Amino acid sequence: MNPKFEFPQGFLWGTATAAHQVEGNNINSDVWLMEHVPETPYVEPSGDACDHYHRYRSDIALLAELGFNSYRFSIEWARIEPEEGEFSLAVLEHYRDVLRTCHEHGITPIVTYHHFSSPRWLIASGGWESAETPDKFARYCERATQYLGDLIGTACTINEANIASLIVEWEFAPPPRQRNKQIWWKATAKALGISLRRLAPFLYATSSKAIDIILSAHHKGVEAIKSASGDFPVGITLALQDIQAVEGGEKRAAKARKAINDVYLEALSGDDFLGVQIYSRVRYGPKGLLPPETGVELTQMEYEFWPEALEAAIRDAVAKTGLPVIVTENGIATTDDTRRVEYVRRALHGVINCLKDGLDIRGYTYWSAFDNYEWSLGYRPTFGLISVDRETQERTVKPSARWLGAIARDNGFEAQ
Ligand code: BGC
Repeated sequence: MNPKFEFPQGFLWGTATAAHQVEGNNINSDVWLMEHVPETPYVEPSGDACDHYHRYRSDIALLAELGFNSYRFSIEWARIEPEEGEFSLAVLEHYRDVLRTCHEHGITPIVTYHHFSSPRWLIASGGWESAETPDKFARYCERATQYLGDLIGTACTINEANIASLIVEWEFAPPPRQRNKQIWWKATAKALGISLRRLAPFLYATSSKAIDIILSAHHKGVEAIKSASGDFPVGITLALQDIQAVEGGEKRAAKARKAINDVYLEALSGDDFLGVQIYSRVRYGPKGLLPPETGVELTQMEYEFWPEALEAAIRDAVAKTGLPVIVTENGIATTDDTRRVEYVRRALHGVINCLKDGLDIRGYTYWSAFDNYEWSLGYRPTFGLISVDRETQERTVKPSARWLGAIARDNGFEAQ
């Protein structure tokens, strides 16, 4: 048997969720609206989700009991500031209690201020392509930090700031000029009372100016959090990609790396850490993105089963930013829990290799704590360590949760 690898003292072992995906009834958000317009691409609405808004106490207690010492979750801007400039103290108090519950159970809370969903009023005023949004985001960060800051352990301003660039690069959404043909897109703009041209929800903010606006929101958010006496590390998270070239695809791969990863990595100096999030690798050939390689196992997301992507992403991010890293998301959607264990086992090997080389990695967060609402794909993909009965909300711990929880409790891993 191989000797046990001891992780650094204080290493954060956690799981992650996002408000819209688990809380339920996030009715004031743009995503809820998009779920309900005619011909929506969302296969089902989020509904009650995991009812985490009401069940957070038992959920957090369960995570602690399993052995985890951190929990990454997001606070919901659409609830905290339901109308522009109107802040809900009742909602802030709710999140204070979520944070308090974490501390009661010895869990360090990692709080994300924006995880994809935004208030409808923000999108109605130009959303993530409006030059006014960074200041609005900073004001929200300031108010939330004034109320919650003394209980926050680590903060992420924006989740996957580069997601829209990735959506553009991989043509997951039609180009803006074709949107006038889409009934759901038109219906969303109409419901918000704006023209199609001004519609820019975070996930679809695909114009080139959106990159600057999102990065500026991050920088102003950091400043606001720090000035509201946020005395904890603050960073951003990115959906990094392990972009590999097959013969003849080098130029295309380099271009994609630049657009998806590097534009963002190069803009982060001065942050306290970088949140690395990655699920698989992608390959580029001479004509661009290639389908998954024949023979490679696929996950429920139709991603290649490729846990080694984590090590590659960490090394690349550290080389380009010099920042400490927290793995803020890594995981797999599968119905076969033994494959989840195998995926995480191999991903953790990558983390260990990096730590052995002296890289500053401060935590590993599995996505996700619970089977939850996977955005437009609905509830079918199951990323969770804990399953949730869609009728009764009953939680069932999967073997992978006990396996990873035991590693977390031990802060050690027998690297077989
Ligand atoms: C997002 C999560 C999402 C997960 C799995 C990340 O892109 O931050 O919200 O559920 O990946 O697809």
